[in-house]
Amino acid sequence: ALPPLDEVIAGLAVDVPDFPEPGVVFRDLTPVFADGPAFRRMVEGLAAPSFVDPRAAAVAHTDDGPSGDPGFDVVVGVEARGFLLAAAVALHTGVGVVPVRKAGKLPRARIAADYALEYGTATIEMHTDSLRPGQRVLLVDDVLATGGTLAAAVALVEQLGGVVTAVSVVIELAALGGRQRVAPHAVHTLWTT
Ligand code: PRP
Ligand code: ADE
Repeated sequence: ALPPLDEVIAGLAVDVPDFPEPGVVFRDLTPVFADGPAFRRMVEGLAAPSFVDPRAAAVAHTDDGPSGDPGFDVVVGVEARGFLLAAAVALHTGVGVVPVRKAGKLPRARIAADYALEYGTATIEMHTDSLRPGQRVLLVDDVLATGGTLAAAVALVEQLGGVVTAVSVVIELAALGGRQRVAPHAVHTLWTT
């Protein structure tokens, strides 16, 4: 039998003390991404439809039938590490992928949100035409720490009329309280530590 996915992730991830600044334990997932079977299982886990927020059912949608509808219409991924996952989840589920980018990278009309994360502050942006109102969104990133990044990403998605059906991350650093920052949206995590 396969070992549980959280054990696989915990076994491959590397803790780096004092990166990128003193006091932060950085959870480096690059070895998990580099492992083919682990990467596939992570992508499948992030895409799993069973956790989709029941409130999404209130949204009008042309149903493809139980086997064809992953529960979201598009995957939104957060630069940069979130991109590695979001594109793979989109391909796996047959939907498109939309980027949330760090400031200054998107060329056309855009909206922005400033936020604080575990180490520092930043600004993220989305193209104003990147979502259609009512589109169901699966939001994907690698790490949920303070939740500052994902809360800002949720705000941008909702400003564009998107409906966040769930937020999927590989690792939740539970002590930092990110889940509360992202509430009331459901956070689906593959490893809570
Ligand atoms: C990291 C990580 C998340 C965010 C989580 O991104 O990929 O996006 O921090 O932290 P928070 O929950 O405290 O907001 P980072 O800004 O380091 O960018 P990167 O993906 O480009 O490395
Ligand atoms: N993003 C925010 N905090 C992090 C951490 N401790 N490890 C990896 N990515 C992060």
